[in-house]
Amino acid sequence: MRKVANTAEAKAVKPVEWLGDRLKILDQTELPLAEKYLQLTDYRQVISAIKELRVRGAPAIGISAAYGICLGAMLIREIGTRKFRDSLERVCADFAAARPTAVNLFHAIGIMREAAKPPATVSGIKAALLKTAAAFNRKEETAMAKLSRAGAALLADGFTVLTHCNTGQLATGVRYGTALGVIKAAVEQGKRIRVYADETRPLLQGARLTTWELKRLNIPVTLITDSMAGFYMSKRVIDCVITGADRIALNGDTANKIGTYSLAVLARENHIPFYIAAPVSSIDFTIKSGSQISIEERDEREILQIRGIKIAPAGVHAANPAFDITPGRYINAIITDRGIVKPPYQRSILKLHKEGS
Ligand code: MRU
Repeated sequence: MRKVANTAEAKAVKPVEWLGDRLKILDQTELPLAEKYLQLTDYRQVISAIKELRVRGAPAIGISAAYGICLGAMLIREIGTRKFRDSLERVCADFAAARPTAVNLFHAIGIMREAAKPPATVSGIKAALLKTAAAFNRKEETAMAKLSRAGAALLADGFTVLTHCNTGQLATGVRYGTALGVIKAAVEQGKRIRVYADETRPLLQGARLTTWELKRLNIPVTLITDSMAGFYMSKRVIDCVITGADRIALNGDTANKIGTYSLAVLARENHIPFYIAAPVSSIDFTIKSGSQISIEERDEREILQIRGIKIAPAGVHAANPAFDITPGRYINAIITDRGIVKPPYQRSILKLHKEGS
């Protein structure tokens, strides 16, 4: 067994940490060049950090928003529960406007809204919010560990896995992760796993963050540009593809980082299994298909510049959808904390929903 096992424990980073009166986050825009932490004391700073991708990845956004709502509640001075709840609702609405695609954000907001509902004093509601955010954080931690271990069963010793974007601790805010969590769990079981990481244009989450995490864990990684993925699949270098998800519809259609759809189609063409790894909190049980998912369109400067350096002539415009939809038919399985879900997704995801409620 290789000595990489349990490095997840030894080298755990804390990308999102609640310190009682503030939220400490690792500023992911600075990685890998600097490991800088930000101490956020105002909920508006948390919203900006989410918008600017200082904290990012669907589960980490959800956890940050839950604590951010606590910060918002702390700021509210109104005496009287009605006025307090009205102000709290404005805080929740501000969070809901931060990024549109990851359902985990809306899931977290929903849980916090519910926590504020039962009759209580203002201080009672504030205490309930804090308790709920901490419980949500713990639940996500357990979910990521469970799905990672479940997914590890799909990886054989010696596998080379292609992944996209960043889906480890940085993206989830907790130990393990989604796609990277599955890889880490397989390595902890003693399997020799090699990773091919897409750089993930335009914001380079693969090049900057995934390689950073894997290097710390001593898991061998080869960085490739997004456009090389098909080449390596056709050369039979890749045994399977695993990515995370920002929102999964009832039919299995999955929104994830732009470029995921192309990978899934290439994987099918090359007879390579394509898996999504995601906690149940990334499933949107209210939507039937991916066509109902709102895709975030980001600032064109993210395409026209790389780290502030212009790469296109002045006057050129760029499109910048941050996510795409992979149709469920290209997904061989969805690895969740409640087990591995297989097609037909209309049936298996609904079953998951029924079992959970
Ligand atoms: O724009 P980002 O960096 O927040 O996008 C992140 C992704 O697309 C991840 O793959 C997804 O959130 C799943 S991470 C556990």
